[in-house]
Amino acid sequence: MKVLATRRYPGPAFDELLDVEVQELTELESPRPDVEAVVVANEPMPLDLLPGLQLVANYSVGYDRLGIEELSRRGVAVSNTPGVLSAATADLTFALILATRRRVVEGDALVRAGKWTGQWTDGFVAEELTGSTLGIVGLGRIGQAVARRARGFELRVLYAQRRPAETDLGEYRELDALLAESDVVSIHTPLTPETRGLIDARRLALLRDGACLVNTARGEIVDEAALVAELVSGRLRAGLDVFAHEPNVPAELLALRNVVLTPHLGSATRQTREAMTRIVVDNILAFERGDPLLTPVAV
Ligand code: DGY
Repeated sequence: MKVLATRRYPGPAFDELLDVEVQELTELESPRPDVEAVVVANEPMPLDLLPGLQLVANYSVGYDRLGIEELSRRGVAVSNTPGVLSAATADLTFALILATRRRVVEGDALVRAGKWTGQWTDGFVAEELTGSTLGIVGLGRIGQAVARRARGFELRVLYAQRRPAETDLGEYRELDALLAESDVVSIHTPLTPETRGLIDARRLALLRDGACLVNTARGEIVDEAALVAELVSGRLRAGLDVFAHEPNVPAELLALRNVVLTPHLGSATRQTREAMTRIVVDNILAFERGDPLLTPVAV
């Protein structure tokens, strides 16, 4: 099967693809009817240049930027990489919770600037994480991994999602109630038409003064302009790994000390990224054999 991959994806599994060409899709200038499968990282595709496309093997669990309706209309199969990135993303969530709540990046900047006087009793006093309330928006695989880690920090866990689940990982709340009751809110829903702009200005206003908002899911789930306004006012703190218009980060955030910013690092561990490639390749090989996809996206 002729595969076009937008980069050499990490790990040994990639070498099992026998007929693969590495090329950015933005560099395609003329139609490539020979290409049967593409490997992309949740990127839009120039479908008119790929008339023979049968499979999109998405190197990402999220598939919100693929243009899924059009792929479905054309009968193109789609796979993604669920499961293998839950631990890495949950770990990064806690890195952001801790960094934001305990002012780690602010402290680091002070030390690097040579401004630390040596006294420790007055500066950077933060709110304790242990014993506080964590609100998880979306208790899917990643949300559950976050909830399990929260036990180690003795957090009280609330969760909101469409329906209450049979779970001992946290207490169900309607979204508005969760926002009003939590010290830290962490977002773990996929981006869908229903979740786009879910955390809007009204809902941000429900957060307690000093609360932390952590987003390792998708920037578009939050009204970014409204969040920027809350952060500029200093009322909230935030740890943000994702943004509405990546790689653009609102300029107002860059100078703020109450915000920790990371460049979409959720799944960025060697083990996870190699496991994602393994799933991508296994899906392509299964498709080639005529077997069902291992992790199909329902299109
Ligand atoms: C995904 O898989 O959707 C992530 O955004 C990649 O880290």
